[in-house]
Amino acid sequence: MTAVVRSVVTGAGGYLPPDVVTNAELALTVDTSDAWIVERTGIQSRRRAAPDQATSDLAVQAALMALDRAGRGVGDVDMIIVATTTPDLTFPATAAIVQRKLGAPIGIAFDVQAVCSGFVYAMSVADSFIVRGVSKCALVIGAETMTRLMDWSDRGTCVLFGDGAGAVVLEPSEGEGLTSDRGVLGFSLRADGAKQDLLYVDGGPSTTGTVGKLRMQGNQVFRHAVVNISEAVLAAARNAGVAPSEVDWFIPHQANQRILEGVAKRLGIDGGRVISTVSEHANTSAASIPLALSVAIEDGRIRPGQLLLFEAMGGGLTWGAVVVRL
Ligand code: UT7
Repeated sequence: MTAVVRSVVTGAGGYLPPDVVTNAELALTVDTSDAWIVERTGIQSRRRAAPDQATSDLAVQAALMALDRAGRGVGDVDMIIVATTTPDLTFPATAAIVQRKLGAPIGIAFDVQAVCSGFVYAMSVADSFIVRGVSKCALVIGAETMTRLMDWSDRGTCVLFGDGAGAVVLEPSEGEGLTSDRGVLGFSLRADGAKQDLLYVDGGPSTTGTVGKLRMQGNQVFRHAVVNISEAVLAAARNAGVAPSEVDWFIPHQANQRILEGVAKRLGIDGGRVISTVSEHANTSAASIPLALSVAIEDGRIRPGQLLLFEAMGGGLTWGAVVVRL
């Protein structure tokens, strides 16, 4: 037994903007149907941020709930990491805007851009800061206004995404170096930039000077997700010293119900241990995992001490997994 510092999730929160957009509503403006969307994705509705709601506004709401659940105040926060691919502005970082809106003290604030894998990447980054003693109370937030990146004439993408934010508070705690420790136990991160064309936004400050719209070759992304996520999950589990069969709850990125089920099946995780919010949240990119976590803690399914497995895949392509004991 060796004393080690672990990054423990002491609180989680989520926020969804109130405007619900149903499949039937989308079918009024684009050639699709509720039946097709439900059968191919499991999505029934998604949320859309109000025109005056920026990504930072969603992030702030999720952060306040996470701090409340952790029994912490804004004044305790010394680091804010926002995983987002839909920042308020090209700069400053959305994390700095969140810091200002929260009224948090001077500390560390920056964004992580790994698209739908952003939260998994951000958790891994935050863990390193906490383990090195740099941060004592970190807010790790996934926040997105994906509806702003949609080409509303492209039925292959516009039905898939939604807006929302999720957040966790991470704090250091002494562990024994065992898999029974609370905290982040292991992770694995991957990127394959050669697959950029499968999923990207066709604009940016140094190329077009515009924000751009999301472009995706959905069926190829689907294939990559089901085949390659399992390898990253197994690597994270190996790093953590656990087997996927020991996991109490599998909390995958919420892109498509068929992907969730396909990955769970490959890992031998039965459906009853998979947290799925895709039917009502759709794909909220970096927000989807902390949002799903927050929902399942609030409804009492996920409890302290349980072993959780997060995984995600998104533009880059990027993908990865984190093993955490709550
Ligand atoms: O966050 C990580 C990144 N995103 C994902 O992980 C998403 C991964 N991909 C997917 O979820 C699925 O590939 C989609 C849901 C995007 C598409 O499902 P699919 O079963 O792979 O369908 P497909 O792309 O092979 O298209 C099948 C047909 C096509 O028509 P034809 O060519 O067979 O006539 C599409 O044009 O379905 C058509 N289609 C639609 N029909 C009605 C595509 N989108 C729609 C739509 N409504 N919204």
